[in-house]
Amino acid sequence: MKFFIDTANLDQIREAQSLGVLDGVTTNPSLMAKEGIIGEKNILKHYVDICNIVDGDVSAEVIAVDLKGMIKEGEALAKLHPQIVVKIPMIEEGVKALKYFYDAGIKTNCTLVFSVGQALLAAKAGATYVSPFIGRLDDNSTDGLTLIEEIRLVYDNYAFETEILAASVRHTMHVVNCAKLGADVMTGPLSAIKGLLKHPLTDIGLAQFLADHKKGN
Ligand code: E4P
Repeated sequence: MKFFIDTANLDQIREAQSLGVLDGVTTNPSLMAKEGIIGEKNILKHYVDICNIVDGDVSAEVIAVDLKGMIKEGEALAKLHPQIVVKIPMIEEGVKALKYFYDAGIKTNCTLVFSVGQALLAAKAGATYVSPFIGRLDDNSTDGLTLIEEIRLVYDNYAFETEILAASVRHTMHVVNCAKLGADVMTGPLSAIKGLLKHPLTDIGLAQFLADHKKGN
């Protein structure tokens, strides 16, 4: 399972990268705004800065909602750096854009996916990644993990190559459960990744080992 971090915060990206288990980054316009990255020039520079920190794929989202605009923006984003993956919303024009970029050999991440039907369309259109937003489904009394399970089943039925990128991951158990269900990738906050480290028996056991070692020396 690949680990992506879902942030535009360079310090957090550096910290995740230093763990040695980071495979990529996802961003979205809200995450960029949260870091105060405003204006086209600054946004494009920020994507390059992120690419220079990590080794893997970096999702950069288009703002246009018409096909022509998505193609123009997506091509400009893809030219920024070889690690850029163009993030396209799951709308009718977006499906056309996914197919366009597939034919052009440009990687895509289909975002804002909330149903199996949408995921099926994204795969048919040749998306590299599909991003079901599990946390936002949970927020709306719908089990996000069930969506991961169902998309896995459908994709396996037809051997679709589109990777399931579990998005809107909010906590560590989301990561664990997505792994159990066979999501190819998860993207979440640094806290969800670092939470995987924690177990009180590890801390108690280590303290005991160190104390015993001290006694014997
Ligand atoms: C995915 O690529 C999105 O950036 C993200 O996971 C959305 O998460 P949120 O629901 O926590 O905003």
